[in-house]
Amino acid sequence: MLELKHIAKTYKNGVNALYNINLKIDQGEFVYIIGPTGSGKSTLIKLLDGEEIPTKGKVEVAGINVGKLKHSKVPLYRRNIGVVFQDFRLLERKTVFENIAFALEVINVPKERIRKRVREVMNLVGLDDKGNSFPQELSGGQQQRVAIARAIANKPKLLIADEPTGNLDPQKSDEIMTL
Ligand SMILES: Nc1ncnc2c1ncn2[C@@H]1O[C@H](COP(=O)(O)OP(=O)(O)OP(=O)(O)O)[C@@H](O)[C@H]1O
Ligand SMILES: [Mg+2]
Repeated sequence: MLELKHIAKTYKNGVNALYNINLKIDQGEFVYIIGPTGSGKSTLIKLLDGEEIPTKGKVEVAGINVGKLKHSKVPLYRRNIGVVFQDFRLLERKTVFENIAFALEVINVPKERIRKRVREVMNLVGLDDKGNSFPQELSGGQQQRVAIARAIANKPKLLIADEPTGNLDPQKSDEIMTL
């Protein structure tokens, strides 16, 4: 499903964020990557979703060589993966409903199907009553759940979450992991 071979990532400013990383994850696996702040966890995720390209080595996801993807092909590739970002990246001027719907609009899902699927995932993450709220009207944990709902709306083959429980108390953390 996913394979990293001899990956190195050096940023433009000379920081070596990753060096000789090898990783293989099969379909159906649930994997945690743990490491101190600055150790390269978010960098690894950026290589997986095509935001950054590796300085060395090969990143392969579902048979696609992600590091070699043309810029124009990245959006198409991203349809197969869902990412919950460390900083959520919700659209502040859109409601919860619109934030989730947007992920489906950009891939041209018909309007009726969007409405149905958004209600489904909002229910799944326990935010049924927050559809008309704006992100800044939500708690951190609620925003996190919107980000999760958006990431799973398209039923991606791969779901990546960057510290999905970083801002939550232990009980909410358990709920998010179960989700
Ligand atoms: N765009 C960038 N340009 C230059 N250096 C960067 C960039 N992004 C990250 N770095 C550096 O790369 C290293 C790894 O950063 P990264 O964000 O991957 O760490 P992390 O493990 O996610 O940390 P945290 O737990 O704090 O989120 C750090 O030294 C960081 O300063
Ligand atoms: Mg990080």
